[in-house]
Formats: sequence, structure tokens, C-alpha cells
Amino acid sequence: MNIIITGGAGFIGSHVVRRFVNNYPQYHIINLDKLTYAGNLANLSDIEDQVNYEFVKGDITDAAFINELFERVKPDAVIHLAAESHVDRSISNPLDFVLTNVVGTVNLLNAARKYWEGDSSKRFYHVSTDEVYGALGESGMFTEETKYDPHSPYSASKASSDHFVRAYHDTYGLNTVISNCSNNYGSHHFPEKLIPLAIHNIKNNKPVPVYGKGENVRDWLWVEDHARAIDVIFHQAKAGDTYNIGGHNEWKNIDLIRLLCNIMDRKLGRPAGESAKLITFVKDRAGHDLRYAIDSTKLQKDLGWVPSLQFEEGLEKTVDWYLANEEWLNNVTSGAYQEYYNKQYS
Ligand code: NAD
Ligand code: DAU
Repeated sequence: MNIIITGGAGFIGSHVVRRFVNNYPQYHIINLDKLTYAGNLANLSDIEDQVNYEFVKGDITDAAFINELFERVKPDAVIHLAAESHVDRSISNPLDFVLTNVVGTVNLLNAARKYWEGDSSKRFYHVSTDEVYGALGESGMFTEETKYDPHSPYSASKASSDHFVRAYHDTYGLNTVISNCSNNYGSHHFPEKLIPLAIHNIKNNKPVPVYGKGENVRDWLWVEDHARAIDVIFHQAKAGDTYNIGGHNEWKNIDLIRLLCNIMDRKLGRPAGESAKLITFVKDRAGHDLRYAIDSTKLQKDLGWVPSLQFEEGLEKTVDWYLANEEWLNNVTSGAYQEYYNKQYS
């Protein structure tokens, strides 16, 4: 099989590419990525020389380029992760999210429809988010039946792309699969997102910004468990199906940050309570969804997937990775990152 994985130089995409390249030597993996600020080939330095791996730099909003790529590599499947992924950036610049997340997805669907000519053995797997379901109150969980209710420009763009994927299944018979996952954490996570940003700031004795009162709840999943879920769903799901993926692991932001501060104190040899002094409550995110929680019973029952790692253990491993990979962190936090960071928190 020739498989195009889009967004393979990003956080989750790099874990998916690594897993497929290592576990399936019989597949040819084409990593298609524009290398935006979030894309980083250093994420894949350990597998870049493998014979079943190829990197192609390109933009999914460019339909002519996508068509040429399909013509050349004749993919048997697409696993689509490329996206603008950060909610705060979507609030300041929604159009980029419409272009990449909606138009880019439709370009890929069009190419799949054209080159696969109704061959239902060819699969289009769309990687999406739990944010399409909106926000929960104190109780309840998102299931695959929950109605879409996106609030941020990011989640609206992802919801739109999900609808297009389903429409191409229903209208043109394309073999599509969608998964909607909760918050991921782990290595190679860009330090604009809560956990890697906090690790970076604690390490450098900078304020750790917590939005509002830190009462918002997210359901955290180890990124390698997400990559494994994508593997299982890609190989086993029925055409047209949808799966929720989540960790059954809800944390209030402030509790998570306190736990992280304790781990960092220990790892950095600081007195207990030292890092927590950096916690700084800042203006809340506009339209901030209160709580996400995923019910992944369908995935567990149908396909036997369960998360592998306890959160405390995963967070500790994540901290270890960032402390051991100072060069990676310094590289991604130089240049344009400083501009973004200063604009956010000045
Ligand atoms: P990321 O921002 O780390 O990576 C996105 C990748 O897409 C980058 O490598 C970037 O260069 C590439 N890209 C962006 N625009 C492109 C374009 N126009 N053409 C080609 N490549 C482009 O994102 P992530 O956190 O790894 O998320 C990957 C996918 O998973 C996204 O679709 C996201 O919506 C979804 N998702 C993320 C999470 C999470 O917690 N991070 C949870 C659920 C679902
Ligand atoms: O739920 C899945 C989604 O998780 C993915 O679809 C998105 O691509 C991914 O970015 C993530 O979105 P969140 O907005 O939940 O992640 P983020 O790390 O930006 O924020 C996590 C929580 O922490 C959220 O409640 C906002 C809060 N926060 C975030 C930042 C960056 C802070 O309190 N301070 C911060 O500095």
C-alpha cells in the first residue's frame, strides 16, 4: 500500500508516521506536510532514512499540487491530519483555519474521488477532534451520537471538514472513516499548547499562564495511544464509520498544572512548591469551552482498543522528554515563536 499521511511533521502526525513506518515495512509512507510553524522534520529524524518513508513538502490548499501528487504516487489510502490546530490562533486568524482545515480537506477529498474512481478498497481516514461536539457541563460525555455544536473558529472548521468527509461518503460512496479524539499530550508537542508551554515556562522560571480560574476540564490522552487507535481504526473500521478516542482521564487545568509543577520541582531539584509560584491567572480565552470528556466505549468494544498509560506516568515521561531534548525546545521557541508569545502574554 502507498499511504499519504498529511501533517506528518506535526505533533500527532509524527507519531502516526513513525508507527506506520516502523510497524509496516510493506507499506510506502508518504508524509505530505507544508512545514508551517508547527511542522518540524526534526520530529522524524529517527526514521527519515528508512526505505519505506518519503517526505513531500506541499500545501493541501493547492489543488493542482494535490492532483499531481495523487497522479505520481497513486495512493491506496490517505490518513489526513494536516490542520491548523491551535484554538487561540483561530480566534485571532479564523481564515487560515477555513483555508487549511476546510478547503484543504475538500481538495484531498476531490483528488481521492477523481483518482480512486469509486474503488471502495481505497480509504480516506480523517483525523478530527472532540471539540466539534461543543462543551459539556459538570456531567455527561461525548458519544458518537452527540450532535455537533462547535464554538471556536478552530472547532467550526474541523466540524465543517467532518461534514464534508461524511458528505463524500454519502454522495460519492468514498470509503471514509473519521475519528474524534480528546486532548493529546506527549513528546514533540509544540509549546503553544498548555502542557508543553507550561513545561517550557517552568523550566525557564517564566510565568505559567492559566486562563480564567483554571476550572476548565480536558480529557488527556497519551499521543502514542492515539497513534495506536488510528492504526486500529484505519485497518478495521467499516466504511463510513466514526469512532471517538479518549483517555477517560479528566483534569481541571489548575489541578493538572499543580501536578506538573510538583513533577518539575522534583526533576529540577527545586524545593517543593517553588514552581507553583509561577502560576499566573490571566484573561480567559474567548468562548472557552468548560469541559470535554470522551466516551470511547464503541472503540473499546468493537476494536478492543484501550489506553495504555496512566496520566501521572505519561506526564512524567513527557517532562523527561522535554528536559532531555533541550535543543529541540530551543529551536522551536526561537524566532517567530517569541513574537507570538510576546503578543499573547504582554
Ligand atoms: P500540529 O499543529 O502539531 O501539526 C499540524 C501539521 O499540519 C504541521 O506539521 C503543519 O506543518 C501541517 N500543516 C498545516 N497546514 C498545512 C497545509 N496547508 N498543508 C500541508 N500541511 C499543513 O497539529 P496536531 O496537534 O498534531 O494535530 C493533528 C491533527 O489532529 C489535526 O487535524 C487536529 O485537528 C487533530 N487533533 C489534535 C488533537 C490534539 O490534542 N493536538 C486532538 C484531537 C485531534
Ligand atoms: O480536545 C482536542 C483539542 O485539544 C484539539 O483538537 C486541539 O487541536 C488541541 O490544541 C487541544 O485544544 P485545547 O484548546 O483544549 O488545548 P490547549 O492546550 O490550547 O488548552 C488546554 C486547556 O488549557 C484549555 O482549557 C485552555 C487552557 N490554557 C491553554 C493555554 C495555551 C491555559 O489555561 N493556558 C494556556 O496558556
